[in-house]
Amino acid sequence: MSKRIIIIGSNGRLGRAILGFCESRYQVLPLISADLNLTWPEELIRSILEPEEFDLVLITAAFNDVDKCEGNPIADQINGTGPGIVAQICKEKGARLIHFSTNYVFDGTNPEVYVETDPVAPISDYGRSKLLGEQEVLGVSEDNLVVRLSWLFGPGDEKNEATPDWSIRQAVKADSMKIVADCWASPGYTIDVAEAVMDLLFVPEAKGILHLANEGTCSWQEFGQYSIDCAVELGVPIKAIHVDGTTLQEMFGHSSRAPRPVRASLSQRKYEALTGEKLRSWKDAVKHYVKHTVARRYIDSA
Ligand SMILES: NC(=O)c1ccc[n+]([C@@H]2O[C@H](COP(=O)([O-])OP(=O)(O)OC[C@H]3O[C@@H](n4cnc5c(N)ncnc54)[C@H](OP(=O)(O)O)[C@@H]3O)[C@@H](O)[C@H]2O)c1
Repeated sequence: MSKRIIIIGSNGRLGRAILGFCESRYQVLPLISADLNLTWPEELIRSILEPEEFDLVLITAAFNDVDKCEGNPIADQINGTGPGIVAQICKEKGARLIHFSTNYVFDGTNPEVYVETDPVAPISDYGRSKLLGEQEVLGVSEDNLVVRLSWLFGPGDEKNEATPDWSIRQAVKADSMKIVADCWASPGYTIDVAEAVMDLLFVPEAKGILHLANEGTCSWQEFGQYSIDCAVELGVPIKAIHVDGTTLQEMFGHSSRAPRPVRASLSQRKYEALTGEKLRSWKDAVKHYVKHTVARRYIDSA
């Protein structure tokens, strides 16, 4: 009898990628926000999960709009207390929980890559709410796994654009464009992240915090520029071949925007020690994504 898995947030970018890998190997119950909403009171969340039999829950759901989280108590519910309730139910049912978090739990002042044991110090309400989620989930059981990600991109809802989608769309329609140049992180391709998570689903040693990202670090501008370079190579009709740089202050230095960590790249060291594997370089991942997904929106033969 194959294991039974529940995915909370199966309609999101990462949720869809994980669902895609899980469906052929396990019995899966995918839940969207209409099925289980993390803002619901505990009794309601219990009424959905308690009647089910399951070995593992993955929470890929989140309130991810960094600016809208600012000063918004719903962020703590969706990203913090809701996952805590789910963790408690998992514990009672003897099930494992894998939850996802972010590099925004760091303040972004580390010139090197962050490892899992580095001190956290979020500078936005989004980061604080995600940190609350980590604490809630691991506070219930240290055997749960919290996977921190950064700059996630991959197939999904075209309205929910990540940097490669957005920069290529802009570069097709405008003669010039700007992306923040003084902010660095490690992109994470949902397909690679999901594949890596698949190998850890029932590995007891994979517990606590784990960083997962494609290998290497880049600035936001380099991330967008390389995406455009890949699109040009594939024959996408790009107008803005060169991306100009702008600053975090210019883009996010307004009261309506939340602060972003400047340098928040994630180390793969723990993942490598655990599995002997590494995720491919961020450039190889972007090239794959642009070729197999983004370019096809603009040219048939890509
Ligand atoms: N995106 C990034 O760049 C990034 C970076 C670092 C870390 N992360 C983390 O990676 C994980 C996956 O992110 P993602 O980019 O795949 O997210 P996403 O595409 O924005 O999807 C989030 C999903 O959360 C669900 N959701 C939102 N509010 C909910 C609620 N109140 N109750 C239940 N479900 C709710 C939505 O479900 P419906 O569609 O059904 O409404 C949506 O499908 C999250 O933990 C996120 O914090 C993301």
